[in-house]
This record gives sequence, C-alpha cells and structure tokens, in this order.
Amino acid sequence: MKKLKFGTKVIHVGGEPDKETGAVMPPIYQTSTYAQKSPGKHQGYEYTRSHNPTRTRLEQNLASLENAKYALTTASGVAMTSLIMQMLKKGSTVLCGDDVYGGTYRQFTTVYNDRHNFEFVDTTDYKLLEEKLAERPAMIWIETPTNPLLKITDIKKVCDIAKKHEVLVCVDNTFMSPYFQNPLDLGADIVTHSLTKYINGHSDVVGGAMMTNHQHIHKELFRLQNSMGPSSSPFDSWLVLRGIKTLAIRMQRHEENALKIAKFLESHEQIEKVVYPGLESHPQHELAKEQMSGFGGMITFFIKGGLEASRNFLEKVQIFSLAESLGGVESLIEHPAIMTHASVPKEVRESIGISDNLIRVSVGIEDVNDLLLDLEVALESQK
Ligand SMILES: Cc1ncc(COP(=O)(O)O)c(C=O)c1O
Repeated sequence: MKKLKFGTKVIHVGGEPDKETGAVMPPIYQTSTYAQKSPGKHQGYEYTRSHNPTRTRLEQNLASLENAKYALTTASGVAMTSLIMQMLKKGSTVLCGDDVYGGTYRQFTTVYNDRHNFEFVDTTDYKLLEEKLAERPAMIWIETPTNPLLKITDIKKVCDIAKKHEVLVCVDNTFMSPYFQNPLDLGADIVTHSLTKYINGHSDVVGGAMMTNHQHIHKELFRLQNSMGPSSSPFDSWLVLRGIKTLAIRMQRHEENALKIAKFLESHEQIEKVVYPGLESHPQHELAKEQMSGFGGMITFFIKGGLEASRNFLEKVQIFSLAESLGGVESLIEHPAIMTHASVPKEVRESIGISDNLIRVSVGIEDVNDLLLDLEVALESQK
C-alpha cells in the first residue's frame, strides 16, 4: 500500500471491503463495547474509548497520507494538541511560532502555562531559532504557512537544527493538508492536523489527528488518549473516511481557485496587499515551491481603510460565508482580529501584523467566476 499514489491511497487504504459482508463502504461500528469469548480473549477490540474498527480504518488511512507508521485521532484538533502537551514532562520549555492558530495560543497561554514554559518566536528567523534551540527546549511547535499571515517556515532547516540539539519538532500541517506538504519526510517528529478542515473537507465534523514514525510517541499518546478520553467517535471517524476520499481532487480545485482569486485581489485598487504563497510577490515564494507541492486554498489580504471598511466588505459578500474555520468545500471569509485570533492580545496581534484591515479567506471549490464576482461586487460597494 505504501507505493500507491496519493489519489489512490485516500480511497483504498483502510477502505477495504468489509470482510463479513463484502460491503464496499466500511460499516460504522457504532458500539461502545465488544463481546469476549473468554475473559481477556477478544479480537483486538475491548472498548471504544480505546479502539474502534471504524477509527482504526481512518488511522490507517491518515498514517499512509503522511508516510507515517502510526496515526491517532481525537475528537478535535485542540484535543490532540492537549495530548501532546500532556506528553511533555512537567516544566518543559516549548518554543512556538508567534503566528499560530488562536486556539493553540489560547491553550498554551491559559491552560498549559502552569505546566510548561512557552516562548513565542518568529520561526522564519533562523538566527534566533539557532540560539533558542541551543537552549534545548523540549519541543518546537510550528505552523507553516503561519496563521493568518501565511509566512513559510523552512521545515527541513528547522528540523536539522533541532536534531542537533535533540529537540522534538511538531508541525501543524492543517493548512496544507498531506496533499501539498509532508513534514515527516522533511524530518519532523510529529505532524498534527485539525481533521475539521481540509481532510474531512465538508464542515460537518470536528476532529484532530497526529501522525508519527516514533513508536514510543504513538504509544504514549495512545496511553494518554485512553486515560483522558478524547477519542474520536465511530460516526465522526466514518464521516472523515468518507470526506477524505476526495481530498486530492478537492485540494487541486482549492488551489486553482485560490490562485485566480489572489491574482484578482492583487490587481484591485481597493486592496492594499495580498499574501498567498503562490504569488511571486510572496516573500518566500521560492521556498514554498520547494517545500510544498502546491500553495493551498488560504489567502490573506489587507483591505484599504480600517475596521469599518473591513466590516462593510464582510457584510456585503454573499457566496463567501462569514464564519470561522477553513478547508471546507464552501468558501469562508473571516476577520482574524475579531474572530479566530481574538484570544491573542491586541498588542501581540498588532506587533506581528494582524491588523484590523486583515481579512482571511478559505477559498472553496465552487465555480471561481461566481466567487470572483461576489468579491468584485463587495469591493465596488466600498468606493
Ligand atoms: C491550523 C489549525 N490547527 C488546529 C486547529 C484546531 O482544530 P479544531 O478546531 O479541530 O480543534 C485549527 C482550528 O481552526 C487550526 O486552524
């Protein structure tokens, strides 16, 4: 199965017909417990918090997509982040990108701040990283592209430095999905995903996952998952298995649409600046081309005017839904300062460039001409 191409793996790994009935689509094992032949004699399944056949299929599929030996899924992305923080010894130092998902920032600064020491750094500043990694923190947590500023961190470069100092590297790969970027292949120890986003792709599940090649990390995270309880449900696992089948073609369309929209926005007089890794104007466009096999569906742009202009524009769009989240088939638009990154203090937001005229778009897979027209009409009304 390892040799299969991505577009085949999403459909077939963990998707074998049901052995009992031949059902082509996997059954949902909606059960909490399993009958045993004799005390302790079972078929590998005892209790669904620990193991469930539908979840097993999903984990097999996810592992294959990141070229990993192991995968584990949880009831949300932040639940997986939490298990990873629980795994680190009390009193650890964690270096974290200064432009990560607001919920990750909130968890680190309000939940785990009593247990660990967190330092937020610009992970594209390699001189600073050299210094910080030499102090041997337990882990470096990276999101690339960053959220919402879409800066690209050189994963291989960071992993090379981190290895020298025996620092674990965890990459949140949610924005790119395994279709466009595979951090484990570049040296990362753990890759995480919010399954809620591109992997499920239909905005009807909240879920999280991690993939790794280290058996001891998988074992420890499984122990924590089983002890603390945030396992993903059979039904959600099944929905993700269903959504994942079209991941390859969805990602192609997300990117195709995003590139057209980014170019349109870049040429529009009402727009101050557009950030999209696929644009030549992106400061790390060359690195993006090297590290990723595509540029994804996320665009960040700065509209002329301040908060009022942003608010007016966001109220005018009709096809783009004004909503948090990303990675679904439908286009979403949001205002990070008020929405996804509200838990990041204003002064911190402003110091890294999350201003009141910054708008983030998750480009869906609709007909791009409808999306372009929707944006154009909303921008024209600004004049
Ligand atoms: C990049 C990134 N990582 C992690 C998460 C957390 O995932 P979840 O919402 O599934 O808990 C999100 C959610 O928006 C995200 O955008």
